[in-house]
Amino acid sequence: MITELFKDMLNNLDNQIKIKPENTIPHHALLMMAMWLPATVEERIKLYRGYGITIGEHVFIDYGVWLEPGMPDTITIEDYVVISHGAKILGHDSSLNNMVDFPIKKMPVVLKRNSYIGTGAIIMPGVTIGENAIVGAGAVVTKDVHADTVVVGNPARNMGSVVGLLGKSMEHLKHNPEKYISIESIYRPPLETLPKGYKQALEKL
Ligand SMILES: CC(C)(COP(=O)(O)OP(=O)(O)OC[C@H]1O[C@@H](n2cnc3c(N)ncnc32)[C@H](O)[C@@H]1OP(=O)(O)O)[C@@H](O)C(=O)NCCC(=O)NCCS
Repeated sequence: MITELFKDMLNNLDNQIKIKPENTIPHHALLMMAMWLPATVEERIKLYRGYGITIGEHVFIDYGVWLEPGMPDTITIEDYVVISHGAKILGHDSSLNNMVDFPIKKMPVVLKRNSYIGTGAIIMPGVTIGENAIVGAGAVVTKDVHADTVVVGNPARNMGSVVGLLGKSMEHLKHNPEKYISIESIYRPPLETLPKGYKQALEKL
């Protein structure tokens, strides 16, 4: 029954027609459906776009991802971004507003091309995650993350370059092949679009 309703809604949902946040119940219903109903990634993204998030192509968003419901126009997700289960991307802060007559802080978040958000990470309002950056599981990101870098922890701190991580991981793979599996992915950017250090690191295998 729910699945039928969901399919019906998807069929009727035109990417051009946005359900406005002021229309609270259908708007939040879309978020809940996008987060939790069985769906393909494409269907899930259609729902997120339906409530106003800007999402590029070849984006992977896992189940249970919380993308700013109140002010969806604050969130931009560029091509080839991957967001893992349970991550939260926030575009506003209403903490003071809930106590006193102080305006809500509204600041845009941009996940740049090819960036990766680990499971359970929280991206705070106003943050830009740079191209090809990796945000580790559970990180709380309060400041911009430079392109091609890895951040972990709360508050998130820089733990080095993605090329450095790739080099270290290649070494680990060489000695522990049984710990790895190879899969194809349509969410992976073409290698030639990455800075050349990535290709060089891969060639060392
Ligand atoms: C950030 C990440 C890419 C680092 O990978 P890595 O360098 O191979 O990780 P390692 O296990 O070798 O750890 C390296 C160091 O970073 C720390 N670290 C690793 N991941 C961390 C994380 N998410 N938060 C805090 N610290 C972390 C380790 O404790 C270790 O510290 P030490 O050098 O003081 O001992 C990885 O740990 C991660 O979080 N990946 C995302 C996983 C995920 O979300 N998967 C969802 C399914 S797709």
